[in-house]
Formats: sequence, structure tokens, C-alpha cells
Amino acid sequence: MPAIVLVGAQWGDEGKGKVTDLLGSSVDYCVRYQGGNNAGHTVVVDGESYAVHLLPSGVITPGCVPVIGNGVVVDPAVLLDEIAMLEARGVSTERLLISANAHLIAPYHATIDKVTERFLGKNQIGTTGRGIGPTYADKVNRVGVRVQDLFDPGILRQKVEGALDQKNHLLLKVYNRRAITVNEIVDGFLRYADALRPKVADTSAVLNTALDDNKVVLLEGAQATMLDVDHGTYPFVTSSNPTAGGACIGSGVGPTRIDRVVGVLKAYTTRVGAGPFPTELHDADGQHLRKVGGEYGVTTGRPRRCGWFDAVIAKYSTRINGFTDYFLTKLDVLSGFERVPICVAYDVDGVRHDEMPMTQTDFHHARPIFEYLDGWWEDISGCRSFEDLPKAAQAYVKRLEELIGAPVAGVGVGPGRDEVIAIRELVPAA
Ligand code: GDP
Ligand code: IMO
Ligand code: MG
Repeated sequence: MPAIVLVGAQWGDEGKGKVTDLLGSSVDYCVRYQGGNNAGHTVVVDGESYAVHLLPSGVITPGCVPVIGNGVVVDPAVLLDEIAMLEARGVSTERLLISANAHLIAPYHATIDKVTERFLGKNQIGTTGRGIGPTYADKVNRVGVRVQDLFDPGILRQKVEGALDQKNHLLLKVYNRRAITVNEIVDGFLRYADALRPKVADTSAVLNTALDDNKVVLLEGAQATMLDVDHGTYPFVTSSNPTAGGACIGSGVGPTRIDRVVGVLKAYTTRVGAGPFPTELHDADGQHLRKVGGEYGVTTGRPRRCGWFDAVIAKYSTRINGFTDYFLTKLDVLSGFERVPICVAYDVDGVRHDEMPMTQTDFHHARPIFEYLDGWWEDISGCRSFEDLPKAAQAYVKRLEELIGAPVAGVGVGPGRDEVIAIRELVPAA
């Protein structure tokens, strides 16, 4: 049975949590494969809103097994808090599985994340300050600490010593901060070991066996294509691979087992943090999108930068991820504009670019070339079929579909689980 990958097609916050939840009842396993608690995924069920940062959104769905894959970076304190928060609200986390190979975020990672940003000054990335970049840097630098190390205190101490060796020089001599002791880190980590032990597993083995047994596995991306460390707007990116290829690496499920790759796409564009954003609005229209769309970060509370839909980015995202389908969210937020612009190409220093420019310098210079479609005024949150939508909204979706290079399988018309228009099944019938 199929593995399905779900990936954000823009700069994050497209509504991945909502789409994961929609698929939830047809899915047996829901897996996070990269990122950490920099994510904030919202699921709204019966008017109750849940924000998950580290757990897969499928944790909300009864019967679905939530899995934290090897590619995720785990802050154990945050994980246990999130588990406690959900349990207190009656959501069971009993079935949660955590990869033994996932890397741990230590307090020194968050410290380094924050001081590095401060030192970057006006060139800062605008990270979430959760220690994500420094943890992945340690992983690649082979001085990371993994979940499995919690169960071998001798090895844990050895690894923390290795990790702190250079960092303390950096903290003391470059950043003028106090040194961190091995004991405080090891003792801190060991406090979580007992609580986590029953949930730790060889998750790649579990997922591949599940696929052999005809179970449906959903690999839920965090962040998004344009925040991908390889394919995004580097250096204004996160430090992992949210794109579809990252799903294989971060879960231990091979590419031949993946049947569908679903892009989650907002009907306009938002971005949190620094970096280029060609269709960004600095006027009343941008404020309107932020207000009506509730565009404030789920993790940091920062106002999201807002702009019109960018088809160049969506087309690029289709190429990088090999999307088989799109789910278009927040179409309801676009009600009430006289006309709705779509960016179809860029002007880069007088030259038209129909595709993503090759260099970052050109992308920084990109000015949007818009096509203008008629707007609509109706509240569309009650629409449940494509034909229910006003003609102008139908035309908008159809035009996007032509431009982005993959079919739109569903449209979101509100935050709630039932506020959707289903066009095509995303999970093939068993
Ligand atoms: P994620 O990080 O991709 O999961 O997205 P976030 O949860 O950070 O942000 C998406 C926001 O939009 C959340 O507040 C959702 O409840 C909300 N949302 C999702 N889909 C829709 C939709 O179709 N219409 C409206 N109005 N809100 C939506
Ligand atoms: P979800 O999963 C939007 C952004 C940060 C910053 C950059 C690097 O909810 O879509 P990091 O802390 O990862 O090193 O920050 O990436 N960023 C996100 N933006 N949605 C997210 O997650 C994000 N996770 C990280 O704002 O610009
Ligand atoms: Mg989010």
C-alpha cells in the first residue's frame, strides 16, 4: 500500500496540519521526517484548535500511529511538554514512536542559534531560535547526540564532551558567554530517558513492515520547499530538506514505495523571517491578507509577511518535488478583492524570467509580472463542491492549475476539518 508524502510548496504555513488531518482517517501512520519544533501545524476539530510543533499532526486522529522519524531533531523537554499538553486535552499519545536515530536538541544548540543570529545583525535569517540549525550542523559534523544515546550514559557523556569541546571555546572566546558543563547537559538529558524509552523504536523497520502489510503511511513535511537547505532561498532557509526527497532520507522509506506526493499550496503567499519574497505586499492589501488570514506565526507569534500568489514558485515546487497533486488552502481569504493578481513571471533587471532564476542574486532582483483575474465578494466558507464556488473563484483555481503543473485535488475554504471542497481522492481506496 502507498506511502504518501505531503510537502509545503511555498515558505511554510500553507495549512499542512489541516490537510494531514483531513487525510488522517484514511491513514495508519503519520510520520514527521525533518525539522523540529520550529514547525507549528494547526489542526481545527469541532471548533477546537490544536497547535503541534514536534509531533506529527496525525496524533490528533484516533487510530493513527504518530512517528518521529530519524531525520527529525528532537528537543526532549519540548516533546514531553507537547505530549502532556495533548494528553491534558484528551488526545492520546500512547502510540507515539520515536526513531532511535533522531538527533537531540540540547540547550547549547538554542543558545548558539540565538547568539549567532545576534552576531549576524542585519544579515540575520530570522530563525525560530529553537536550535535547529546548530543541531543539524552537529549531525553533519558528526558530533551530534542521538535519542539512542540516552540509554547508554557512558556513551552519552562521551558524546556530550565531544560536542561541548569546541563550543565552549566559541561561547567563551567569541560570544563572551559562560561555558556549559558536561554534567548539566548529561543530567538534563538523563532526566528524560525513562519517559522516552518505551516510545523509541527502529521506525524505518516499523514503517516498511507496515507498508508490506498494506497500511497507509503519510510522510508529513514541516517547513516547505522554499525553506529547503538545498532547493530554497539559501541562506534564508531552514537546515533540513522538507522537499519530497527528504521524506525518504528522514524516514528510511525508499523512493519506490512512494505513490503520491501532495503539495500544500496557499491561495496567496506568506513568509516568516528574512529573505527574498518577490510578491510581498507592503500596503493595505497585505494587511488585509494578514488580518483575514490570521497570518501570525504559530511558533513565534511573529506577523507573517504576506503577498500575492506566485506561480513561478509553485511551478518550481512541482518540479523539485514531483507533485502528483496539490491541495489549495485559504481560498476563502481572497474574497473581497476587486481583482486578484497572480505572479506569472519575473522581471529581473529588464529580462523576463518564466522560471525560477538560477542565481540568488537574480532572485533578489526579481520583480513580479502580474496577470489580473476578476475577484469575488461572496463568503465561500460554506461551499462544499467546486460548482458552489462563484464563477470568478472557479476561474482563479483553474488558472492556477494551468500555471502550476499539477492538478488541484482539494480546496480549503476555512480552517475547520469540514471546510473543504474535495475534487479528487488523495488516498487510493484499499
Ligand atoms: P502549517 O504550518 O502548514 O500546518 O500551517 P499553519 O497551521 O502554521 O498555518 C495555517 C493556518 O491557516 C492555520 O491557522 C489553519 O487553521 C488555517 N487554515 C488552514 N487551511 C485553511 C483554509 O482553507 N482557510 C482558512 N481560512 N484557514 C485555513
Ligand atoms: P511550518 O512547518 C514558516 C523559517 C524561520 C526562518 C527560517 C530558519 O509551520 O510551515 P529555523 O528556526 O528553522 O532555523 O529558521 O525558517 N521557518 C518557518 N517558516 N513555517 C515554518 O514551519 C518554519 N520553520 C522555520 O522563520 O526564516
Ligand atoms: Mg506553521
